[in-house]
Amino acid sequence: MGYNRENFRRIREAYAVKYQAARERADRRLEEVWASVPGVREIDIELSRVGLEIMKAITAGGENITAMIAEVRKKNEKLQAKRGELLRAAGYPADYTDVKYECPACGDSGYVNGVMCECMRRELILAACESSGISELLREQNFDNFTLDYYSDNIKNYEIMENVLTKAYQFANGFSEAGSGNLLFMGGTGLGKTHLSSAVAKRVIERGFDVVYVSAQRLISDFERGRFGNSSNDGIRQVERYSECDLLIVDDLGAEVTNQFTVSCLYNVINTRLNLRKSMIISTNLNKKELESRYTERITSRIFGEFILLVFAGTDVRMQKLRQKYGK
Ligand SMILES: Nc1ncnc2c1ncn2[C@@H]1O[C@H](COP(=O)(O)OP(=O)(O)O)[C@@H](O)[C@H]1O
Ligand SMILES: [Mg+2]
Ligand SMILES: [Zn+2]
Repeated sequence: MGYNRENFRRIREAYAVKYQAARERADRRLEEVWASVPGVREIDIELSRVGLEIMKAITAGGENITAMIAEVRKKNEKLQAKRGELLRAAGYPADYTDVKYECPACGDSGYVNGVMCECMRRELILAACESSGISELLREQNFDNFTLDYYSDNIKNYEIMENVLTKAYQFANGFSEAGSGNLLFMGGTGLGKTHLSSAVAKRVIERGFDVVYVSAQRLISDFERGRFGNSSNDGIRQVERYSECDLLIVDDLGAEVTNQFTVSCLYNVINTRLNLRKSMIISTNLNKKELESRYTERITSRIFGEFILLVFAGTDVRMQKLRQKYGK
């Protein structure tokens, strides 16, 4: 899976710390108990002896191994029960010395039988959302609250947008490392391009991929920061992510200042990702002609050759919503 390496490393480290801390806390409780309830310590020594017996029985094999193990296990249970009683009598809960993990399912290891635990997956998704560049506001825009109702004043537009939604939905739900192609969202302001980009981003993140969402303006300014290499490496680091992530979403192409430098940055990003067969979504308010006059043939031929063009139709949804809110 394409989990962001940096997030993955950081979260695994946090799990190791969490795991260790839970064990140390349990150790301290055990020491406390041993000091105040001597009977428990004796039982614990006995219990570890019993544990050894089980191990020996298993390694030795033999005919009546099952019977032996059953017998040892019974001994173990009896000792455990007695231990619990001693603890309770001393005013402790019976499980006082047990290790208390944050997640009982995986014992804070992040894995259950070699499969990533739900708790770790959630952490990764959260971190991925954070590092994807999708703002809080955008996070609220998803497939569930994208409705075709806003395009229903015109049957043609409705059908167009139904197709757009279907294509975006399929792209998101079928996203794979094997290469999922590229989408070009084209159309006027307020037709849902950013909303749908964000919906796709979230779904692809949920499926475990590393997604970066960035406005064209921001993309360019990160390249500039990298170029004019100030003290921080942020610009360069970020630029690396633009070629490394599984899905790059460039929003609002055409809103940035265009000059030779910005055009060559764009070309580099698009070209690199196409060569690596890594997916992109680009959205723009510009039409084909405008794109062609603004960017070089090098760029537009690649975009129109390698991206599935989805032209949005309808009337500004933002305005529709405002009208609904304030009445006509
Ligand atoms: N089909 C839709 N269903 C629900 N809300 C929509 C839809 N299309 C757009 N919106 C909302 O309208 C506003 C403008 O949409 P946005 O995606 O930013 O348009 P664009 O990026 O095409 O200019 C946003 O608040 C967005 O959530
Ligand atoms: Mg937009
Ligand atoms: Zn877990």
